[in-house]
Amino acid sequence: MNYFERTKIDDIVYDNIDDYQDVLVLGWVRTKRVTKNIAFIELNDGSTVHNLQIVALNPDKFPLDNINNGASIKVRGYLEKVEGREQSIEMKAEEIGVVGEAPSDYVLQKKRHTFEFLREIAHLRPRTSTLGVVNRFRSKMSYAVHKFFQERNFHYIHAPIITTGDAEGAGEMFRVTTIDPADPPRRNGGKIDFSRDFFGQETGLTVSGQLQAELLACALGDVYTFGPTFRAENSNTSRHASEFWMIEPEMAFCDLNEMNVLIEDFIKYLFQFALEEAEEEMKFFNDKIDEDRIEVLKSIIQSDFAHVSYTEAIDILKESGENFEFPVEWGADLQSEHERYLTEQHFKRPVMVTDYPKKIKAFYMRINEDEKTVRAVDCLVPEVGEIIGGSQREERLEVLERIMQEENMDLEKYDWFLDIRRYGTVPHSGFGLGFERILMYLSGMGNIRDVIPFPRTPGNAMF
Ligand code: 4AD
Ligand code: MG
Repeated sequence: MNYFERTKIDDIVYDNIDDYQDVLVLGWVRTKRVTKNIAFIELNDGSTVHNLQIVALNPDKFPLDNINNGASIKVRGYLEKVEGREQSIEMKAEEIGVVGEAPSDYVLQKKRHTFEFLREIAHLRPRTSTLGVVNRFRSKMSYAVHKFFQERNFHYIHAPIITTGDAEGAGEMFRVTTIDPADPPRRNGGKIDFSRDFFGQETGLTVSGQLQAELLACALGDVYTFGPTFRAENSNTSRHASEFWMIEPEMAFCDLNEMNVLIEDFIKYLFQFALEEAEEEMKFFNDKIDEDRIEVLKSIIQSDFAHVSYTEAIDILKESGENFEFPVEWGADLQSEHERYLTEQHFKRPVMVTDYPKKIKAFYMRINEDEKTVRAVDCLVPEVGEIIGGSQREERLEVLERIMQEENMDLEKYDWFLDIRRYGTVPHSGFGLGFERILMYLSGMGNIRDVIPFPRTPGNAMF
């Protein structure tokens, strides 16, 4: 193949067009139009949303009959500016070779497909403009995440995927086992004997890398994870996936207020990066998905996030006069209708809600003096709702032990987690950002299934 010789469409520099008198491009045909004297091919090579227009002046000379939409081809020729059209380039073909044919039953013909239909052909949809843009955007924003933390001397750590504990305590772990489901080993009394399973105990896919991130933060200072997490949560919504990517920073010697400054910096950094370094993608989203997108991001970068305690939030909701489906009551978790009211109607910008009731949050959050609330924070944004959940951690050994006992947890099983509090304990804080949720917000894409290449949701694990 001519892998190293080819020119990628995105690398072509308009102003240096004279440098492209003998170039080779490799890609997939989006459309073809042939007349007697001239043929046009729109070629896309995956490097950019823009197609390169290939012009074949003597159509008879080229194997155009074998080139349908979807075919992969290689084209040698020279580039020219297109008169009259701004920054537009076309390629005059001298040689066209077919790499892989595509029979005429290729499903992505030139017409609009719904996002629902495209999910059914998730193996081919990256070849559409929108999913191409989404996947390149994911890549750029992943880089932005690393860039933000690396510039601040955070260490990127890898938390295990296979774990033994449900970090969030929500009972949403997928089981990992090699036990034969048809003939599991049993204890006397009939219960399955997991001591004879692969790891000698019950294991599952991680729901969060937080507990391990805490261990590493209490050795390396500032750390972050960025990896897949799994939730066997039966939520069939446009914002929930069973497998999603989470970014989890954890900072030693850091309290909640200090972390909240970091959260706001981080979100704004990602927005700024998208506007500056993913210009092509943001322009596409603004043109095709949501015409306000760029303005929305710019206004958030300039505004301050709102801050409110859970207790204040409850008061705001009670005084709103809204007719919510779920009742508003101190002690109950905020439902997405409540979250959306706060961020969309009341504050009209991102809002950080802190100090939630202990009863509705995970065991590891630091207890406030009132003994009723914990140092938790959720960051809510318009349209998407919760994008971040985090907290200051309970670093006081006796307090943590007491809470775990109250929640009937097996302290022995978490001995390693308690050791961190036993030896040189420090105040520390961390949060989790759902990568797909922030991509949805940045792009205006309305369904989480369309910002991840191969979504896993209840009832679906295709491809
Ligand atoms: O609020 P969560 O459950 O928090 C944690 O897992 C903490 N251990 C994080 C930490 O403190 N290190 O999840 C964090 C974020 C949510 O705010 C949301 O953005 C995203 O992860 N998230 C999901 N995204 C897509 N699909 C799901 N099913 C999600 N569940 C959570
Ligand atoms: Mg949460």
